[in-house]
Amino acid sequence: MIQDAVQNSVIGRAIRNGIISVDTVCIRDYSVNKHGRVDDYPYGGGAGMVMEAEPVYQAVQHAVKQTAGHPRVIYLTPQAEVLDQTKVESLALEEDLILLCGHYEGIDERVLQEVVTDYVSIGDYVLTGGELGALVLIDAVSRFVPGVLGNDTSADFESMQDNLLEYPHYTRPEVWHEKAVPPVLLSGDHKKVEEWRYQEAVRRTEERRPDLLLKARRIVCAWYGAEEVGVFAEALLSRVSRYGELLNYNRNALRKKRRELSDRDLLLLVTDDAAGESVPEKLLGSHSSVAVVIAGSADCQDSETTTEQMTAYWEKKGFSAAGIYHADVNADAIKITELALEIRMNAVKQPSGGFPGET
Ligand SMILES: C[S@@+](CC[C@H](N)C(=O)[O-])C[C@H]1O[C@@H](n2cnc3c(N)ncnc32)[C@H](O)[C@@H]1O
Repeated sequence: MIQDAVQNSVIGRAIRNGIISVDTVCIRDYSVNKHGRVDDYPYGGGAGMVMEAEPVYQAVQHAVKQTAGHPRVIYLTPQAEVLDQTKVESLALEEDLILLCGHYEGIDERVLQEVVTDYVSIGDYVLTGGELGALVLIDAVSRFVPGVLGNDTSADFESMQDNLLEYPHYTRPEVWHEKAVPPVLLSGDHKKVEEWRYQEAVRRTEERRPDLLLKARRIVCAWYGAEEVGVFAEALLSRVSRYGELLNYNRNALRKKRRELSDRDLLLLVTDDAAGESVPEKLLGSHSSVAVVIAGSADCQDSETTTEQMTAYWEKKGFSAAGIYHADVNADAIKITELALEIRMNAVKQPSGGFPGET
């Protein structure tokens, strides 16, 4: 079932081009029973069958041996948090993944305890087996592997990364069934197009997935320090949010201008100032969150300032700290992506009220 499905379309092309590979292991091949059975009756009685521990264990060990190290072993199960884009991105950073598919009533709990590192559900409903779940995961994760999509940037920003659904799309003709394409999309004004897309994304999310809006943050990335800090800040911001605003606070005009962020904003402050303080005075928060990234060189000394001191400092300015991070300003793309994921995950844990982009 898996091998048939992955031969098609984008994933099939990526496999043929050697960008990803999907191997399958048949648990039945590890049966400890002369009839090739891998299931048995449940202790305690009840309907259905349970997959035995030993064949599952042997099959997983076989799969582990095909990998370079200690891969994450993911059991597809309805008894888990539902897969989301953040989890997908974190899984995409792994070199190898082992996906374990259950059948019948499920798998003997003891082997799950021994081999599984992650439990993933693809939705709050029950399937007959884990294969379709595994295929969903393979598809979603592969999109983040460089080279899988023709256009490398298109997996960076999609519905969900900002906890916003995507804006509507249009293509030719300009008028179809008397419906015209929104004029702003024909204006050629990139800034206006981006703002329209952001507003549409907020509107659509409010309409269809209001639960997601609670997790959405508008990111304001302020940076100051050496030029290379600016380059790092831009790369980081591009992985944290599609709609983020990048502000160079080396500029005097900006430093003098009062700017107060709201409780739905996250200030992403990137600096090479090891204390993470000396923040432009007029940049203030109002129950806003802040993530401070101290971008130094790999061998730079940690600052004397403690996390408590820094948290107290930020609280006085109206921010609650969503995290203080130390990063190498020359970090590679993978390290930057890992940091961005951590920032996003911590940011949504911060409580918040209304939404700033609402019209
Ligand atoms: C019929 S289900 C077993 C359901 C199990 N009795 C329960 O209630 O949790 C058989 C297998 O399908 C897979 N499965 C079912 N629903 C799933 C979902 N929502 N997400 C991922 N895998 C699922 C799991 O691997 C599971 O072991």
